[in-house]
Amino acid sequence: MRLICRRAREFEGRISLPGDKSISHRGAMLGSIAEGESVIENFNTCRDCLSTLRCLRALGVEWEREENKIWIRGKGLEGLREAGNVLNAGNSGTTIRLLSGILAGQPFLSIITGDASLRRRPMDRIKVPLEMMGAKVWARASHLPPLAIIGGKLKGIDYSLPIASAQVKSSILFAGLFAQGKTTVYEPSPSRDHTERMLSFMGVKLERKEGISLEGGASLSPLKLRVPGDFSSAAFFIALALLTRSRLLIEGVGLNPTRTGMLDVIKEMGAKFKIRNLRVEGNEPVGDIEVEGGELEGTLIERDIPLMIDEIPILAVIGAKAKGVTEIRNAEELRRKEADRLKALAVGLRKMGVETEERRDGLLIKGRETKGAVVNSFGDHRIAMAFAILGLASEGETVVRGAECVDISFPQFVKKLQSLVGYAISYL
Ligand code: S3P
Repeated sequence: MRLICRRAREFEGRISLPGDKSISHRGAMLGSIAEGESVIENFNTCRDCLSTLRCLRALGVEWEREENKIWIRGKGLEGLREAGNVLNAGNSGTTIRLLSGILAGQPFLSIITGDASLRRRPMDRIKVPLEMMGAKVWARASHLPPLAIIGGKLKGIDYSLPIASAQVKSSILFAGLFAQGKTTVYEPSPSRDHTERMLSFMGVKLERKEGISLEGGASLSPLKLRVPGDFSSAAFFIALALLTRSRLLIEGVGLNPTRTGMLDVIKEMGAKFKIRNLRVEGNEPVGDIEVEGGELEGTLIERDIPLMIDEIPILAVIGAKAKGVTEIRNAEELRRKEADRLKALAVGLRKMGVETEERRDGLLIKGRETKGAVVNSFGDHRIAMAFAILGLASEGETVVRGAECVDISFPQFVKKLQSLVGYAISYL
């Protein structure tokens, strides 16, 4: 599928967004091992979260879904059963890494794999700590999916993460729920803390000092939760409003500070926005974002990358339309996402007329005029959406090839855009 984009006119509008993907995955997984029935509203029904739900069903978990509301019958810590087949995480790194933490706690064999992109992504980062806890983990070429896991009888560990990764942190904490004794994870720098917040919300005692600690064996209360709108989806709409000089109100967005690093960057670039109606729901900050587009200046993005790890593609696009130079550093992890995002961005930006230098750990972008072009998504949802937004802010016609991957995180993306910019964007 291709997306066709033309320059969008300035608009004034309001939207709300599907639920946060990271929180939806965690809700489904933790709901499955809770004591009793969980009800989750505004669950993100994207392809990745459906992969999680399917894996859980294969492990004996009963759940029902009506549109974006799900009911999960929790099995408690000891209720999962061996799947009759290989588990398929599809494209989802969060599914394979977090679920492996739970599988490490099960006294049976699980084999988990994914699509071609996921099978290229490193799993030694979870294999090493899960083995230290006592699970047996096999991986292709010792670091790639498929993974085969035989778990059970875990012991708590103290573990310092070599890289800031919420997926790895969460995988270890999930395994820690099944372990004997205390598990502590130390992070080199903060990463998204949805797991910590959700575990506390479900009654698990969590210590958050230099490290994050929990004791194994605690029972989890079921969830009654409304998932906040996904900030990572909001990011594309914030960019759209900024680049088309429009006014946009995005309602009910998750504003967890471990996710909103992008807001600090665009503020530095001169963006105008306000947060309204800030509140806490399900132990997560939520609010409305009011954006007003205008002139932006290039900037240096090098600190707190984990707090905006999924927003680097759209920040690169914003940089491409800003005055002067935007430089991204310390972002080598982007090469290990659904695609090599640094390369994908450099290739696409150059095609659209932006002078771009690809560096080992970042990009140097000389922004301003951009022109429509045929660009490739590289099968990566965030690359596809980032270039769709750039297409809406560029002269001429932009074609984003391989855009079906948008469904990985945000199946409603094009419809939501059309509600603001009409047929400046369409499918082909
Ligand atoms: C996620 C953590 C991040 C992020 C991913 C979702 C999560 O990955 O990029 O989209 O839900 O924990 P890493 O932990 O690999 O940085």
